[in-house]
Amino acid sequence: MGMPLPLAQLRPPKMEPLRKHHLRKNAAAAKEKAATLKQEQEDVRARIAKMFSAERGAAASKMDTNEKEHKFWSTQPVVQHAAAKELSDLGAGSAIETKTVADVQKHPYPLIDSFEWAEIDVNDDAELEEAYKLLNLNYIEDGEAMFRFDYSRNFLKWALLPPGWQKSWHLGVRVKSNRKLVALITAIPARVRLHNQPREVVEINFLCVHKKLRSKRLAPVLIREITRRVNQHNVWQAVYTAGIVLPRPVTSSHYYHRSLNPKKLIEIGFSRLAPRMTMARTMKLYALKGAPSTPGIRPMEMRDVPAACKLLREYYQRFSLHVDFSEEDFAHWLLPREGVVYSYVVEDPDSGEISDMTSFYSLPSSVIKNPNYKTLNAAYSFCTAAMKTPLVDLMRDALTLARMNDFDVFNALDLAENKTFFRDLHFHIGDGKLHYYLYNWKCRPMESKENALVLL
Ligand SMILES: CC(C)(COP(=O)(O)OP(=O)(O)OC[C@H]1O[C@@H](n2cnc3c(N)ncnc32)[C@H](O)[C@@H]1OP(=O)(O)O)[C@@H](O)C(=O)NCCC(=O)NCCS
Repeated sequence: MGMPLPLAQLRPPKMEPLRKHHLRKNAAAAKEKAATLKQEQEDVRARIAKMFSAERGAAASKMDTNEKEHKFWSTQPVVQHAAAKELSDLGAGSAIETKTVADVQKHPYPLIDSFEWAEIDVNDDAELEEAYKLLNLNYIEDGEAMFRFDYSRNFLKWALLPPGWQKSWHLGVRVKSNRKLVALITAIPARVRLHNQPREVVEINFLCVHKKLRSKRLAPVLIREITRRVNQHNVWQAVYTAGIVLPRPVTSSHYYHRSLNPKKLIEIGFSRLAPRMTMARTMKLYALKGAPSTPGIRPMEMRDVPAACKLLREYYQRFSLHVDFSEEDFAHWLLPREGVVYSYVVEDPDSGEISDMTSFYSLPSSVIKNPNYKTLNAAYSFCTAAMKTPLVDLMRDALTLARMNDFDVFNALDLAENKTFFRDLHFHIGDGKLHYYLYNWKCRPMESKENALVLL
């Protein structure tokens, strides 16, 4: 489990050559500010981040220290916990098992009699609605069942229909008798660079089993069947994330959270008013300017795609794991879509050159059982390339733009260079972790700052 940011790391108060009483006031204010920030971190730690890591809590912390037996995962081509010591010398790594398409089982894995496999056509509004509802009611929620992810319909289309998508990889399970959709797992094609090597993979997401069918070992069947379908297309590696520890993370990150609308966050029980803080002072602490400050920052447009894509590819060379977008991929993932993805470029006012970009996506959560609010609007940091503008300034603008777009909170993982701006911009650490996994690939594990891959 993550720890709150130690107080020693807090920025010291700005000291100016002032008279004694002023210094005392500064010191008292600094002490109060530090205490307030510490309390806030604890409050945030207690509530906020739990929901952002799938099945966290007791199970996750237990498994962090005590690697439990994995009846399913111990049979799969993934790095096993016991192998951990041998990994540091592996570098870019290699496949754990090598097969050909001819080796792949031709028939779907059997389901118990009353269920059947179903490919979900997310271009069909009725089927999209079924997937949306399944996730809306059964996907990831916080430990206290106060919030549950509410991926929008348009988000699901964006997430599941990138260039090269396959309908057979949008895999559901239906009840035979009434056709009710009760489980889902998806794969999408992606090209990543891993330890400087290009690799064709799939990203696995939206693993979900209806609440009434939990603990019946349906998840392993879903994972086996999606693997078979992906293998049939001659793809042998996958990337996925989970809040729980499985064999065996290649890297792990913490979520950090930045309040944009502290009043609402407090009212819905997402965070608490810190002791000795009034609502007015809390709002002042998190207040942002009315507009972004970087000259030339504006929403990304189609005409920016070649330059912005080049910029991102160049920036990502700093990291050991990241996506490797073609311009077509980039256009899909980054061109702004209202309510889904928000992307901005910095265009140099003199040269017209695109010097930086930043983006975030919208992943709201249902606020369960609150009479006044139905939705928590959360923005998630997505792809950023700060080449000329200091990252902290670019991200301050991202916060401002998120606030202008009515988001209540801005979330970011501590991967890539994100840790460099968290303190200055009043982010607070959550207590959940997000673990990254590779299927059928063993390589040197990496620190979160080496990773720039953000999965949805
Ligand atoms: C995740 C979920 C599908 C698992 O289903 P379940 O009914 O709880 O578990 P099952 O009995 O079917 O299967 C258990 C196996 O699946 C594995 N498993 C559970 N969650 C997993 C995950 N997120 N990713 C990969 N494997 C997972 C377990 O480790 C276990 O295998 P093991 O014995 O080798 O350790 C289900 O709990 C769910 O829908 N949760 C809400 C949504 C969610 O958290 N999705 C995952 C997002 S990362």
